[in-house]
Amino acid sequence: MLTNQIFNQFQQSPTTAMADRVANLKANGHQIISLQIGDPDFATPTAIMNVATKALQDGHTHYAPSRGIPEMRLAAEFRLKRDQDLVYNPDSEILVTHGGIHAYYLALQSILNPGDEVLIPDPSWPTHTNMVKLLRGTVIRVPAPSENKFLPTLDSWKKSVSPKTRAIVLNYPSNPTGAYPSREYLEKLHTLASKHDLWIVNDEVYDNLYYEDKPVSVGGFPGVKDRTILIKSLSKTYAMTGWRIGYLAAPKQVIDNALKASQNSITCVAPFVQKAAAFALRDAGVEEAISEMRTAYTRRRELVLKIRQEYSQSPVGVTPPQGAFYFFLDMRALKIDSLEICERILTEQGVGLMPGSSFGDLGRGFVRMTIAASDEDVEAGFRAILDWAGAQVGR
Ligand SMILES: Cc1ncc(COP(=O)(O)O)c(C=O)c1O
Repeated sequence: MLTNQIFNQFQQSPTTAMADRVANLKANGHQIISLQIGDPDFATPTAIMNVATKALQDGHTHYAPSRGIPEMRLAAEFRLKRDQDLVYNPDSEILVTHGGIHAYYLALQSILNPGDEVLIPDPSWPTHTNMVKLLRGTVIRVPAPSENKFLPTLDSWKKSVSPKTRAIVLNYPSNPTGAYPSREYLEKLHTLASKHDLWIVNDEVYDNLYYEDKPVSVGGFPGVKDRTILIKSLSKTYAMTGWRIGYLAAPKQVIDNALKASQNSITCVAPFVQKAAAFALRDAGVEEAISEMRTAYTRRRELVLKIRQEYSQSPVGVTPPQGAFYFFLDMRALKIDSLEICERILTEQGVGLMPGSSFGDLGRGFVRMTIAASDEDVEAGFRAILDWAGAQVGR
């Protein structure tokens, strides 16, 4: 029987494929240090769980409004204003979604027509490109080389625009590189988007995880709101990856479309999850808990940089990430394919990593290592990587 041919264009999500492989090895008794997946090692703060439990007991177990319960949309409005000074109407410009990935899906579903071109930096999280293909769009990769701090030059953005371009997809802070640009850079990008009438979609699921100056939101400029779409999630900041909740902040015309797409795919997000998320977005105690998580990521980032200094002859290049919780390790000096590097480090050293090539051609020779793991695992895993890499070049 004939099936949907579009799926021949890509494979199973490499991130989940690697996670499955590591889980399999562990189930078979292998000791693996898991540094491959972007899932916080912290438990969801207890106060959030208590709100969800109470909501279940209070009967919030039926269909909810498909736009999201008012409490959750008001909490999202509050956070957008408080954290980024952005004004979004909770009745018409915010939609509660089933995590950031669903927000991204709805955003693209709402703006793309078949054949539209979408500009996406290389490297970038694989779903950014896969989703465009799923929706019959055309992906144009814009090089974001490590030599340019993992940002595309303005010139390469310009060269990639064609009459078919519909949107620019950004993800700052970035998975896998942690990079994010300056205000001036974003202003110039908006000028380009405005000249060619393009949407700018920014995946901001890591917006609260940064180690340098606070990232500027792509939506934070006068006159740009009409072409800006923001993807938000509670997964990473609140250690709530399994709860599946996020939201979309966008102009009304986009939310109107996204609402229809969401109603016809998921109906609504579970109301007890929304209650807990609304609480998380406003509660001062939760704020303290997430600030402790941030402190731990900062400490682990320093730990990695300190260990790297000890291995002064190592062929592994390390760029300190500005945000998110990954190191994109440069192993190009080894001249070994990144998939093979990951396979060998997994089997020979027992450390799970993500091949850089799964994020795009410019990720070849790199591997992604997460610091969303215990200090002990980060230290032991990173040392094992450096030892292995050193042995390949006789250092
Ligand atoms: C850049 C980026 N966007 C979105 C997501 C998905 O987030 P969520 O769990 O909210 O769907 C991830 C998860 O790894 C991610 O790295």
